[in-house]
Amino acid sequence: METLTTDRVIIVGAGLGALYAALKLAPHPVVMISPEALGEGASSAWAQGGVAAAMDADDSPESHADDTVNAGAGTVDPQVAELVTRQARDYILDLTTLGTPFDRTAGGDYVLSREAAHSFARVVRVKGDQAGAQIMAALIEQVHETPSIQVLEGTMALGLDVEDGRVTGVSIQRADNGGSAPVMLRGAAVLLAGGGSGGLYALTTNPPRIRGQVIGMAARAGALIADAEFVQFHPTAMDVGEDPAPLATEALRGEGAILINRHGARFMQAIHPDAELAPRDVVARAIYAQVQAGNRPMLDTREVLGEAIKAQFPSVAEYCARNGIDPAQEPIPVAPAAHYHMGGIATETSGCASIDGLWVCGEASSTGLHGANRLASNGLLEALVYARICAEGIARTLPTPSATPPLEITFQDGGTPSDPAAVTELRQTMTRYVGVIRDRKGLIKALGIIARLEAANSDNPSFLNMCATATLIAAGALAREESRGAHERSDFPDPSAGPGKRSEMYLSQALAI
Ligand code: SIN
Repeated sequence: METLTTDRVIIVGAGLGALYAALKLAPHPVVMISPEALGEGASSAWAQGGVAAAMDADDSPESHADDTVNAGAGTVDPQVAELVTRQARDYILDLTTLGTPFDRTAGGDYVLSREAAHSFARVVRVKGDQAGAQIMAALIEQVHETPSIQVLEGTMALGLDVEDGRVTGVSIQRADNGGSAPVMLRGAAVLLAGGGSGGLYALTTNPPRIRGQVIGMAARAGALIADAEFVQFHPTAMDVGEDPAPLATEALRGEGAILINRHGARFMQAIHPDAELAPRDVVARAIYAQVQAGNRPMLDTREVLGEAIKAQFPSVAEYCARNGIDPAQEPIPVAPAAHYHMGGIATETSGCASIDGLWVCGEASSTGLHGANRLASNGLLEALVYARICAEGIARTLPTPSATPPLEITFQDGGTPSDPAAVTELRQTMTRYVGVIRDRKGLIKALGIIARLEAANSDNPSFLNMCATATLIAAGALAREESRGAHERSDFPDPSAGPGKRSEMYLSQALAI
């Protein structure tokens, strides 16, 4: 394999954590591996709700931390919750300085949305439901004006090079289907910030490329993976036959939108005292039960928002319009869809993974913040906090920055195109057997199918990365013989109360199950 050596820090990914880390590393030279044009294809850009932060005078970081711990079903690390929530306000102010046009009241205060399991309205939003895209746009502008950052658009990472127990580089190829012969890039440090695993499922709210490849490549290099079985299903993905499924943000329920079924019955009140604003896992399971019963669950915004949905939630209104739904006149069909991977690469509070030289931030990481049920809008916040931690930690290992020429890479033909039928079967398997409700028999079946697909596609590293993550999720789900948060085992139906254990597994252990 051709090898290129650079003084640059290699950042795999181009979402919020990747952009923010690159900016915080400046003037240290950075190269970002971005499969698509910046701003496209990253989950962060699709986040509708916003960033959770205690901004209200009556609110406090302690209350935010408590809500984070309580939502997480006994598996949140309280010290991590304290670390992340304590700094949330500073990150909102920094993003504002960097150009994010957060929604403000006439008096200049930040407009705060209410989302499930938060004790206060504390989700800072942009243009109603466009937080991710607008924050990303502001940061991308800054990245374009920062000469130390080089972005390799149209490239993707395939694997990590580990020498003497230390990560030294990343193999990359062209990101078009068929790819190219891989090139090994050796850099000053490697930061993984390439997103989660939602697209491993047939029903997902994640962009098409986000299929667990980054977690998988770390696992295949020998990194420890934590809480892989904890996958969050968003209750209200729009059930309109699109892949990926458009999101109907939880902030709609924060405004008072209700869940009904095709008989017009409101079903959440009988299930949880907080009804539509119950924790996300509870709402997801209730909606799943309605789907299974053929009751066609729907989100009804008619009374509470009416025509105002078009101005207040323009993205949701647009998704409805393109599917021929007028939400002012009719309820929106919804179903739970894989949305956020709470588990991932085990990550210390220093931002380091278990292999020397490897740093991680964002959804690919498992820091202990989310536990078994992530509190809404804590994802972007965690990405920001850990991106800065990683940037500062990496910078301490680097020499004084100096001008570094841009990398010139010419890719030769020679990659292996992915097999769309194998990808489809993998995704359907995950939704069917490793989805909202799991059991031993289904999980064993899933592991068998994943192993067969893996063996049949052993010349395709990107697919092997997906299979590695799928294996870890299914094996983690099999090993966790309880129902906790988003992990529901129908053969262990009573929800576990009290403190739970964080699970940790190497890929070799998952493959041996
Ligand atoms: C939403 O807007 O409902 C999603 C926010 C999140 O997942 O944090």
